Amino acid sequence: MRTYLVTGGAGFIGSNYIHYMFEKYGDEIRIINVDALTYAGNLENLRDIEKRPGYSFIRADICDKDAIERIFADNDIDRVVHFAAESHVDRSIRDPEIFVRTNVLGTAVMLNAAKASWELPDGGYREGKRFLHVSTDEVYGSLGETGYFYETTPYSPHSPYSASKAGSDMLVKAYMDTYRFPANITNCSNNYGPYQFPEKLIPLMINNALSGKPLPVYGEGKNVRDWLYVRDHAKAIDLVMEKGRLFETYNIGGHNEKQNIEIVNIIIETLREMLPDTDPRRAHINSSLITYVKDRKGHDLRYAIAPDKIKNEIGWEPETMFKDGIRLTIQWYFEHEDWMKNVTSGDYQKYYEEMYL
Ligand code: NAD
Ligand code: DAU
Repeated sequence: MRTYLVTGGAGFIGSNYIHYMFEKYGDEIRIINVDALTYAGNLENLRDIEKRPGYSFIRADICDKDAIERIFADNDIDRVVHFAAESHVDRSIRDPEIFVRTNVLGTAVMLNAAKASWELPDGGYREGKRFLHVSTDEVYGSLGETGYFYETTPYSPHSPYSASKAGSDMLVKAYMDTYRFPANITNCSNNYGPYQFPEKLIPLMINNALSGKPLPVYGEGKNVRDWLYVRDHAKAIDLVMEKGRLFETYNIGGHNEKQNIEIVNIIIETLREMLPDTDPRRAHINSSLITYVKDRKGHDLRYAIAPDKIKNEIGWEPETMFKDGIRLTIQWYFEHEDWMKNVTSGDYQKYYEEMYL
């Protein structure tokens, strides 16, 4: 039985990944979810699996060397999937330091603890041990109207968030180059789907529209992102872990570029299609809610991933068309009004105390 240490498993992508893995492997795997439960970590995301055999949760900060080393000492970890990070660009512009701490120092702590636990006296590593560092396409900087990010594209991060993720990627590369540490890096485009914290574009727009609040579009709304349904990302991570060549980077993307204003209009249209005529919220959901606001500082114009390498080597391709993924996402938010209420009121942070203390 393989044992996974998943960092940041109470966040958006981490919790979707844990669900995906138990659906795929069932009782064949053990997952230890290590998360500090910052504002972005929500154990309600894992409520349906928290009692299943094979799953356990440890509240720990990845920068806490002693706590992380203890987890490796107490468990024979086979795979590390490292999601934990500060993830929101706007927050990084206001308060960069925590991004450096968590994303750079935290990654160094994780690498060191895994290396110490896995290495053999001859400098090699115990059989089958692997570390996957989950990163972002933002490390490549910004594209103009044309072109794509490849694995060979030079790093050129602009925001404190992307600079800190680039720093963490460089540390992983340094461990691979210096110590032949058994790792991979994945750089993925924008994810959307269930359990995404409503500070990010798609859940923020869904939530505001349903509440009849303005839809704040930065600048002219012409910035382009490449959207990927989160479950497709979870599948890609698993495939890279199992089939990827060690020491390689794989770009993961949705082949689904859209301007922000297009996304907002699709959300308005889809909400109107999906809400019954009798629902009173339907009347106020229209383009008059769109409000153009001050642009993000240093706002990257366009991201677009070329996922050729992962397709050719591993056979992964995005499976969920945006028109389907956005409906699945909206349906999930319809069915989880309490989740959204708890998150926006801050009540979700009490869940840990109620459940675990
Ligand atoms: P998120 O903000 O939803 O979740 C981050 C999780 O990490 C939370 O559960 C939080 O509590 C935890 N965490 C934060 N600091 C921690 C610390 N010091 N110790 C332990 N846990 C800590 O983020 P997400 O959107 O799920 O992103 C996950 C990873 O994927 C990040 O590394 C991010 O850079 C990367 N990524 C995200 C996207 C995206 O579109 N969201 C795309 C590409 C890559
Ligand atoms: O590309 C991958 C990255 O995607 C991840 O590494 C990050 O963790 C993730 O947060 C995301 O970063 P973005 O900055 O692209 O995502 P965000 O949802 O914050 O914004 C998407 C676009 O929408 C961006 O151009 C800014 C714009 N925007 C965002 C918000 C929150 C708005 O116009 N209005 C808003 O209110």
